[in-house]
Amino acid sequence: MKRASILAATAALAIGASAAMSDENAELVIDGQKMITRAAPQEGSPLSEVLSGWLFRTDETQALEVDDFDNPGFVFVEQAAAAWETVDGSEGKSCASCHGDVAESMKGVRAAMPKWNAEANDLWSLENYVNNCRENRMGAKPWKWDKDEMNAMTALIGLQSRGMPVSVSIDGPAQEWWERGKEMYYTRYGQLELACSNCHEDHYGDMIRADHLSQGQINGFPTYRLKNAKLNSVHGRFKGCIRDTRAETFSPGSPEFRALELYVAWRGTGLSVETPSVRN
Ligand code: HEC
Ligand code: HEC
Repeated sequence: MKRASILAATAALAIGASAAMSDENAELVIDGQKMITRAAPQEGSPLSEVLSGWLFRTDETQALEVDDFDNPGFVFVEQAAAAWETVDGSEGKSCASCHGDVAESMKGVRAAMPKWNAEANDLWSLENYVNNCRENRMGAKPWKWDKDEMNAMTALIGLQSRGMPVSVSIDGPAQEWWERGKEMYYTRYGQLELACSNCHEDHYGDMIRADHLSQGQINGFPTYRLKNAKLNSVHGRFKGCIRDTRAETFSPGSPEFRALELYVAWRGTGLSVETPSVRN
């Protein structure tokens, strides 16, 4: 970015000097299970250390994720647990009819998403897999991307990977998607001419408006946000961040956002899945 526009954007957004993290040594232990909130970067990563967004939140917000009884995201997880058992669609089946116990069948699934689907010849996010089962295996209506039912189900499925390190495959046909996602990450959007990297790589740890900038990792998604009191999907968050640069944005579920999701997931390799996380 041109020096002048960085300064203009920085001023417009009031990115301020580095504030100390709430507690740099804080450890996230949920139900006795220690989460990996700091990971060593893998080869090719521009980050010196990979940090969970949890580390950047205030003590009060951090505390909400420590205990599942306090975590407001669990209301939705419970709704999805009921939906898992509920028959829907022309085939008279529920998710449980085929997958059985969610804890067993969905363990590890979130940690590897998004992933290449050879049969579909496409890169699929978790939402694509859920809707494929609904439409083609249950004869049920697909759920809208980034809406409540879908976010609740991806939270329930994500929870079954909690604590496991994010580990996506970027080999084979996925590599092209990774490259596309990387290009997007460094593309300047909107009137402010800001790329994801300008905020989440160059300025993490700094204050922006009244918010503490993180690395923009997605290991906690879907995440419960205090701001809108509901679960928010990865693509919903991408959309919001791009819109904040005063740009036109892509749609949740679009190939662009799935490519970006793969790249951002890769940047967070090694962090524990924290789903459902709590953020402001
Ligand atoms: C008629 C049987 C059937 C029903 C009903 C069904 N699924 Fe599936 N599902 C499958 C099969 C078969 C696969 C592909 C093989 C596999 O990964 O288990 C699959 C794959 C998946 C995957 C991808 C798993 C992975 O490891 O990649 C997810 C996620 C999933 N289903 C979620 C759901 C959800 C949520 C529901 C209910 C809304 C549901 N399924 C209903 C049969 C079904
Ligand atoms: C103008 C600065 C800015 C830009 C540009 C920006 N974001 Fe953000 N983003 C934020 C702020 C502020 C937050 C909320 C505080 C935090 O977690 O960093 C945030 C949060 C996030 C989160 C949630 C992190 C968590 O732990 O819950 C993700 C994911 C994210 N951004 C991804 C992106 C991606 C991908 C792009 C590029 C398409 C992008 N952001 C562009 C400012 C920005």
